[in-house]
Amino acid sequence: MTAYQRITVSPIAGALGAEIGGVDIEAGLDDATIAEIRRALLEHLVIFFRDQKLDDRSHKEFSRRFGRLFVHPNFDLGQADPEIVRVVRQPGDERIIGEDWHSDTTMMAEPPMGAILYALEVPPYGGDTLFANQYLAWETLSDGMKAMLSGLKAVHSDIKVAGPHNKLNARRSSKIREDSNWQATESVHPVVRTHPETGRKCLFVNRSYSMRFDGMTERESAPLLEFLMEHGHRPEFTCRFRWQAGSIAFWDNRCTKHLAVHDAGPFHRRLQRTQIAGDAVV
Ligand code: SIN
Repeated sequence: MTAYQRITVSPIAGALGAEIGGVDIEAGLDDATIAEIRRALLEHLVIFFRDQKLDDRSHKEFSRRFGRLFVHPNFDLGQADPEIVRVVRQPGDERIIGEDWHSDTTMMAEPPMGAILYALEVPPYGGDTLFANQYLAWETLSDGMKAMLSGLKAVHSDIKVAGPHNKLNARRSSKIREDSNWQATESVHPVVRTHPETGRKCLFVNRSYSMRFDGMTERESAPLLEFLMEHGHRPEFTCRFRWQAGSIAFWDNRCTKHLAVHDAGPFHRRLQRTQIAGDAVV
């Protein structure tokens, strides 16, 4: 662990996740504080802030301190500001955004490096978000499994999470592209990636987007892919974040998976998210 001068960093679980204190994002942050926040992100994989007051402008301004903003192609519905995705859940919604274990938007050739999710309205209980450390997922595999996976690639597609055939918009408040011009986006990524900043290896498959191993059928891929996806969120690799209005979660999308727990029952849940552009997966 490294010392921090400008922020406080309090881990919330053994595997990943830390709450950051001493920061008022709206008031503006100097470069040294941003550098410490980035260091905390690399060290803890997902970091949380409490009691922040953000509007769209300050949310985007804070996000841009970590890189170029990424516009999610499936949430680009012609709204005034496609750089912010509204993550809304209302009573009666049968589906929500992110209810399966996933890294974000991995059908892209260059998936986002991270996301910053800000809570406006949260349920009195329920609606937590879980995160899982994919370095640990890789490091805890046997040498035999590691040898088998090295060099293997997976095909990632958004065919299960967008497009007219899934009819998601009828069942959830957050809308996605379902127009007849929509076409699936597909990319092939290594199953084991090397994080571009830490140089550490991590597992990079997820339930929302990873369809099969490259060069194999879905049926041939399923047993091993299923094992890897389940292994990747063993309880000891995870943390659980309890939201309050004004909370922020900032995750490193390159080495984590996450899941929004679909248990908010009769309550409203309203958050907004930016994504930060990333690199090709190597
Ligand atoms: C997401 O997957 O980006 C949404 C997570 C959440 O709503 O907790």
